Amino acid sequence: MNKTNLKSHLGIGIMLGSIWGFAEVALGLGLRSCAALVSGSLMTGVALFFICASWVSTRRFYVPVLIVIIACLFKLFDALLLNLPVIHGAVANPMFAFLMEGFAFLILVAVFLTATASFAADVEHGKKLYSERCGGCHDTKVHTRPNRIVHTYEDLVNRIRFCDTAAKANFSESDIFNVADYLNDTFYKFIKVKE
Ligand code: HEC
Repeated sequence: MNKTNLKSHLGIGIMLGSIWGFAEVALGLGLRSCAALVSGSLMTGVALFFICASWVSTRRFYVPVLIVIIACLFKLFDALLLNLPVIHGAVANPMFAFLMEGFAFLILVAVFLTATASFAADVEHGKKLYSERCGGCHDTKVHTRPNRIVHTYEDLVNRIRFCDTAAKANFSESDIFNVADYLNDTFYKFIKVKE
């Protein structure tokens, strides 16, 4: 990653973190007594908004971490202004919530990215198998012809089994599904009901 990128990502993090932190302080100061009941749920939405925004605009794990730290610093500043001890519920609870929200968000992103990456690897593998073993009788135009014979994901898998025998390609079960995922992702776009 180059320096300008790093700077702009940190810049975005500091900006979003500060707006979020400031919103928290404003809420702490302004609505402290009258809105104490709703502020928690309200601010959870706000927190998620800022955490998501920081991820979407930078796609870097450290930026959500950075904005959570900044929001916590603002909260401490808030405690100072209101003259509250740090372990006071109005300070420690939201800080704990920020950390958990940030943590939960990063776990979700990590799970999602891992799933996407393994799907992409499957598709890549399927593409390789197809180009190495499935030539000879047809090319990929057969998958976009108007009167094609495959109409569901299941049809597709069955047809690949059939052609696998015809081609003597000897695909394993997972090869068959990798090729199905490649063809589906590239041409058919069926909704996959089951594997
Ligand atoms: C021995 C020749 C042959 C080989 C090799 C072959 N196919 Fe086929 N394939 C066909 C024929 C013929 C059709 C068209 C059948 C029809 O129109 O009824 C077809 C159609 C298909 C279709 C359906 C296209 C549609 O209409 O939507 C898929 C999917 C397919 N092949 C996948 C594969 C895969 C994957 C391989 C590699 C394992 C492969 N084929 C290798 C002969 C072959």
